[in-house]
Amino acid sequence: MASAARGQWSGKMGFILAAAGSAIGLGNIWRFPYTAGENGGGAFVLIYLFFVFAIGVPVVLSELAIGRKTERNPVGAFAVLAPGTRWRWLGGLGILTGFVILSFYAVIAGWTLSYLWGAVTGALNGVTTAEQSGVVFGALIGNPGLMVFLAGTFLAITAMIVRGGISGGIEKATTILMPILLVMLIGMAIRSMTLPGGAEGLAYIFSADFSKITVGVVAAALGQALFSLSLGMGAMITYGSYMPEGENIHQAGIIVAIFDTTIALLAGLIIFPALFSAGVAPTAGPGLVFVVLPTVFAQIPAGQIFAIAFYALLAIAALTSTISLLEVVVSYFVDEKGWSRTKAVTVLGTACFALAVPSALSQTEGSFFYSLPGLGIDFLSLQNIIWGNYSLSIGALMVCVFAGWKWGIPAVITALESSGHRLPASSAFGFLVKFVCPVAVAGILVYVIVTQQYF
Ligand code: PFF
Repeated sequence: MASAARGQWSGKMGFILAAAGSAIGLGNIWRFPYTAGENGGGAFVLIYLFFVFAIGVPVVLSELAIGRKTERNPVGAFAVLAPGTRWRWLGGLGILTGFVILSFYAVIAGWTLSYLWGAVTGALNGVTTAEQSGVVFGALIGNPGLMVFLAGTFLAITAMIVRGGISGGIEKATTILMPILLVMLIGMAIRSMTLPGGAEGLAYIFSADFSKITVGVVAAALGQALFSLSLGMGAMITYGSYMPEGENIHQAGIIVAIFDTTIALLAGLIIFPALFSAGVAPTAGPGLVFVVLPTVFAQIPAGQIFAIAFYALLAIAALTSTISLLEVVVSYFVDEKGWSRTKAVTVLGTACFALAVPSALSQTEGSFFYSLPGLGIDFLSLQNIIWGNYSLSIGALMVCVFAGWKWGIPAVITALESSGHRLPASSAFGFLVKFVCPVAVAGILVYVIVTQQYF
């Protein structure tokens, strides 16, 4: 399909902001701190950083090249580059993964709406200690109806924007908001690091105790790197497909990776000092960030205004990610099945809501989904692990195999350089894509399965 009809970013900046909008979200501010906390802190962070650059960046560039070259959704892209083969199933796995991630991501995004509401109404004002904050959080997760409603609301907002199309809907929303989020996070990090007891948190997150590293920790760090960069499910293929010709695509991809990682580290600088200062356990799980943050706002002058701005921005950061998740799925049905955008958004949004319900119910103690029989884990966490870690790892692995061995590194580099900008360190890039990434990711997956240290 002609690119004009599919829509395009208005330029490189539009792409960077939209792709950064996809990458930056709850993965950075919610998932990164609690996963780091559950996996021992500093050593996890180091491994995560290593994976971002050794695996994440090569995969970002490979996905962008595939999208840029084919101007297709993930299934269509593989069908164009490897016609008549099963590679299109890899695109299909990505679309399925995006759909399921969206279903549980919307539940957590719904929590941000609840906290935004609490900040606006002043209900969070009295919360100064971790105990009080725990009570507020408990009231939220103890109310399944509210969580279903909030997830549904978030999905409805996402659907409305995705219906608006590429540069009209998605790009406008991101252009102004991401820079504001960055500035706010820096301010909060400064406050958090200067809290009494905050230094202990910094030590926890930045001093690596290598005795804590297990294959589970390594695998979780890999999953987090991929999740945070929106990799392994075709989001960057889809966003790369809307990239106008002549733009320096590899530079844009690297900027996005740096931006994303900076935000995750900033979130760490906010959460860990505050957590030690407030006496919350780093292993508190998915609720960690929601319990810790109100205690930070309580110690900031004009904390309520800060809290309103922060939760609003967090909701928006989540929204620019849910938009990309839905866009991947929608673009497939529009490009390949000939559906109208409106039909795709309505049907898929509704189906996703249905799948979000068990995740929304899974946080309430006593619910069936709270502790799945035989697994002892809640439905949301299970989805997060299967799709957020395993499926993305498999997706990233296969993208590297495809780019390195099927399509071929020279073709990938040609696509990346089609704008006339040379790819720096292109032989290192080829080596990483062909050898390092597949061997490392496959090795981790096999090791996890053999040793049964599921992550
Ligand atoms: N990268 C997003 C985040 O860190 O919140 C989550 C995400 C969005 C994952 C889009 C995958 C994706 F395709």
